[in-house]
Amino acid sequence: MRDCLYISLFMLHISAGCNLSNEGQRIDVTGYTGGSVLLPCSCDDPKSTVNTFTWETVNGWKNVFEYEKFRGRLELFNKTSPANLSLLISDLREEDEGNYRCTGPHRSSHSFTDVSLTVTGCDLNRRTHTVYVTGYLGESVVLPCSCTEPLAKPDLIWRFYIKRNYEEIYPSEHIERYKNRRKLLNQTNPGNLSLHLSSLTKEDKGDYQCSVSKRFIFIRLHVEEKPQVHTIYSSTHQPSQQTHELITTQQPEDRITHDMPLA
Ligand SMILES: *[C@@H]1O[C@H](CO)[C@@H](O)[C@H](O)[C@H]1NC(C)=O
Ligand SMILES: *[C@@H]1O[C@H](CO)[C@@H](O)[C@H](O)[C@H]1NC(C)=O
Ligand SMILES: *[C@@H]1O[C@H](CO)[C@@H](O)[C@H](O)[C@H]1NC(C)=O
Repeated sequence: MRDCLYISLFMLHISAGCNLSNEGQRIDVTGYTGGSVLLPCSCDDPKSTVNTFTWETVNGWKNVFEYEKFRGRLELFNKTSPANLSLLISDLREEDEGNYRCTGPHRSSHSFTDVSLTVTGCDLNRRTHTVYVTGYLGESVVLPCSCTEPLAKPDLIWRFYIKRNYEEIYPSEHIERYKNRRKLLNQTNPGNLSLHLSSLTKEDKGDYQCSVSKRFIFIRLHVEEKPQVHTIYSSTHQPSQQTHELITTQQPEDRITHDMPLA
């Protein structure tokens, strides 16, 4: 029985011919934080079978599957296509950047492919000064914030300055009154970090912070009464219907702008 096992293991090894498609080469790949990336590696003959291959980090020479930081984020495809040794890394982080080596079955004959992974993260589109935004009581306002890289999904936190501290209001709500009133303006575009705040109250006035991995944008929100709209109705006498003439006073320009520095 035991001999039988050894023989079949030996057979496996014999049939395990695999010449890597990019043997000895280095391939550059780029991914975005929050996204996924395929580190390519494969046998040039798709019918090859491979019983041993490894993916290691060149810095430290450790099998990627032994890293805690990669847990739940790695995927191989050799189950369905045995000659495909590619590694998929998902939910990319900036610290995943570096060099990886796929080593094929013939370790002694330098059968490997190196992959250099670059991870592009979110860098805030910073303005030198605080951004001033004006909103009106009961209405909605957009607090602007964005990444220079529109495809990078950042670890975003919005905070509001209260009681001498910046307290989180997005994604979690440490201030109750923001509940159901704040959302990201654009859920489909990862690089757009602007916060949409509805039903403004006087308490919302103050300083906000858009933060991405220790980089910040500060926004000062000014909340005021909605500008008066004077309506004058003049009715004309008609049998079954009244026509109303609506006269609206012109609003000053600066009341319309939502991204105005405070005087
Ligand atoms: C791998 O390459 C060597 C040398 O070019 C060749 O002799 C061998 O047949 C190849 N093996 C496979 C499985 O393609
Ligand atoms: C796929 O490759 C990994 C790493 O070499 C190995 O542990 C696993 O058994 C392989 N799976 C299949 C189905 O061959
Ligand atoms: C390996 O599998 C992945 C995932 O299905 C695929 O994207 C990739 O093109 C495959 N590589 C090769 C060489 O077949």
